[in-house]
Amino acid sequence: MRVMRHPHRVSAWSRLLHREGIRIGLVPTMGALHAGHRALIRAARLSCDAVAVSIFVNPVQFGPKEDWSRYPRPFARDVRLCRDEGVDLLFAPSVASMYPHDFQTEVHVPRLATRWEGSVRPGHLSGVATVVTKLLCAVQPAVAYFGQKDFQQAAVVRRLIEDLDFPSRIEVCPTVRESDGLALSSRNLYLSASQRATAPVLYRALFEGARLTRTGSAPRDVRRAMLRICRSARGVTVDYLTVCDPHTLEPLSRLSGRAVVLLGAIRLGSIRLIDNLLVRAPRRRT
Ligand code: PAF
Repeated sequence: MRVMRHPHRVSAWSRLLHREGIRIGLVPTMGALHAGHRALIRAARLSCDAVAVSIFVNPVQFGPKEDWSRYPRPFARDVRLCRDEGVDLLFAPSVASMYPHDFQTEVHVPRLATRWEGSVRPGHLSGVATVVTKLLCAVQPAVAYFGQKDFQQAAVVRRLIEDLDFPSRIEVCPTVRESDGLALSSRNLYLSASQRATAPVLYRALFEGARLTRTGSAPRDVRRAMLRICRSARGVTVDYLTVCDPHTLEPLSRLSGRAVVLLGAIRLGSIRLIDNLLVRAPRRRT
């Protein structure tokens, strides 16, 4: 496995592979790799000839009061995981090589990026769009792999790939969960024992929301039920729980026969958890 630190070196590597007709799969990460990342790497391995993983704790997607400086960085462990999974290139740039002092460009996907996560974490999804654009430019992958857990992030990336005519496609892989339903996330490491015990309440609420949606309940009732479940757990604050169109992420007031996404974000103390479920509502009988 090769480890590269500068986007220019990665571009040169990618050009060489392209000349030989090798299809690259990219798994963008911020490190602290877990079974969810492993699943993305395995999906890339299955359908691409070479796999690149990026590890970069991207400062421009963190707010001034967020956890950029204390975000977990177990680099040696991550390198081992990538080696074990047969990754071809590990791209681990420094902040200075990604954002030299005169860097100015930002990528905004305004309609998709300003609601839900965007309203709670202003600027976050523009920071993601900016870094993903840079990663796609450097690696030029045939396919970029993202987890469904960050549903809105995947929607933003899909939009920018289409809008900017990137010769890549996005593949969104299912969320990997603990046995009690908690979605895997590098930030789960921050949970205390009692917060960890409470954390699956978000999945339970979404699961009940999905059941109600499948049996024809109105979005208003689905939202109410999800809220009730989350609010019944001690120490939980709800940022949002919503029933949306999976493409536009606009909240829905009627469902009938369509695919919907249930999006949720809660806080346990200072720790935020996000999750979602995709579900199809039944067609209404006329
Ligand atoms: O999902 C993440 O880990 C990050 O948001 C990403 C896509 C690697 C961009 O920094």
